[in-house]
Amino acid sequence: MKLNENYSQLKESYLFSEVARKVGAFQAANPDKKVIRMGIGDVTLPLAQTVITALHKAVDEMGTAATFRGYGPEQGYDFLRTAIKDYYKQAGVEIDIDEIFVSDGAKSDIGNITDLFSKDNTVLVPDPVYPVYVDTNIMNGRNMLYMDGNAQNGFLPMPNKNVRADIIYLCSPNNPTGACYTKAQLKEWVDYALENKAVILFDSAYESFVSDKELPRSIYSVEGAKKCAVEFCSLSKTAGFTGLRCGYTIVPKTIESEGLSLNKMWLRRQTTKFNGVPYIVQRAAEAVFSEDGIKETRAMVAHYKQNAQIIAKTMEETGTRYFGGINSPYIWFECPYNMDSWSFFDFMLDKIAVVGTPGAGFGKNGNNFFRLTAFNSRENTVEAMERFKSLTK
Ligand code: MLT
Repeated sequence: MKLNENYSQLKESYLFSEVARKVGAFQAANPDKKVIRMGIGDVTLPLAQTVITALHKAVDEMGTAATFRGYGPEQGYDFLRTAIKDYYKQAGVEIDIDEIFVSDGAKSDIGNITDLFSKDNTVLVPDPVYPVYVDTNIMNGRNMLYMDGNAQNGFLPMPNKNVRADIIYLCSPNNPTGACYTKAQLKEWVDYALENKAVILFDSAYESFVSDKELPRSIYSVEGAKKCAVEFCSLSKTAGFTGLRCGYTIVPKTIESEGLSLNKMWLRRQTTKFNGVPYIVQRAAEAVFSEDGIKETRAMVAHYKQNAQIIAKTMEETGTRYFGGINSPYIWFECPYNMDSWSFFDFMLDKIAVVGTPGAGFGKNGNNFFRLTAFNSRENTVEAMERFKSLTK
């Protein structure tokens, strides 16, 4: 056998596995210390009551022959796809039900969609950004181009007419920086993609954190996007589904290349390689989009956004330059004392037992930056920030 040698081009371990390994070693060496984890963006609030009720009901259905369900449609049950369609409609975006594909989360779909594209494509990725885009394309051996996100452009790189790319990754609100593209900026990206016959892979996993009504929560609120953009979304951060697992991907029927339809190819891929999300999870996801579900999950998001404000205020009080935290659960700040991000990670863990994510894990432009998440209890967030103040004194 011959193995995929592209794997040797990857870093030894995935960013968040490396963080978890270091934290595990620290906790083992310091069993009495209370470590506060603000590294991986994992939620801490329990599921909304409406979701729990729907789960219980679905579990009961599975225990009765008349209502038991076996294999479901690979692309998701119609009840959930209809709920997602209506959710988009409320935001003024029309999506057909057969353009919606339910999955176990955005990460899987973002990785799996690379199956549909030829190895010859050139991929354009922002730096810094969620490492899955880069790692999954390295696995496929694709040529990668990076576009710089930095303090000067507010971590929102824009198209460069002299650069030709076939596959463009955008994430807005951005992970890790919290920066959010305006509609006019996204329109420039859509125009660039249409001109270059490129596809935009748009990650909107953090759309529910956008509170500024002027900012787009879906790329489809931009004219022309349905001809060139695939959108990935997830209930992980919107409704606390990091453990339950459910997301959805929109693949418009209007994206075609050389007689092939991306929508048909994704359907073919999913029906061949995926057996769908569990029925009970899809019922729970359906409940998220109900009136009560939206109310309850928005309250959860509001809680995290208040935590983000507490972190942002601490950055101001300590004179630390930061970004994000307004339309995002992430605060992205410059490492104090000119430290590089992995040194600052070790320093912060060692001195105050607070975990964050080193910016270098998101690309070279993150070398001197650090990410903290707002996904914690109020108590832990306040305590972590008190500890942070002592660190920067
Ligand atoms: C993150 O911390 O960046 C995310 O939680 C990771 C993920 O969603 O896979």
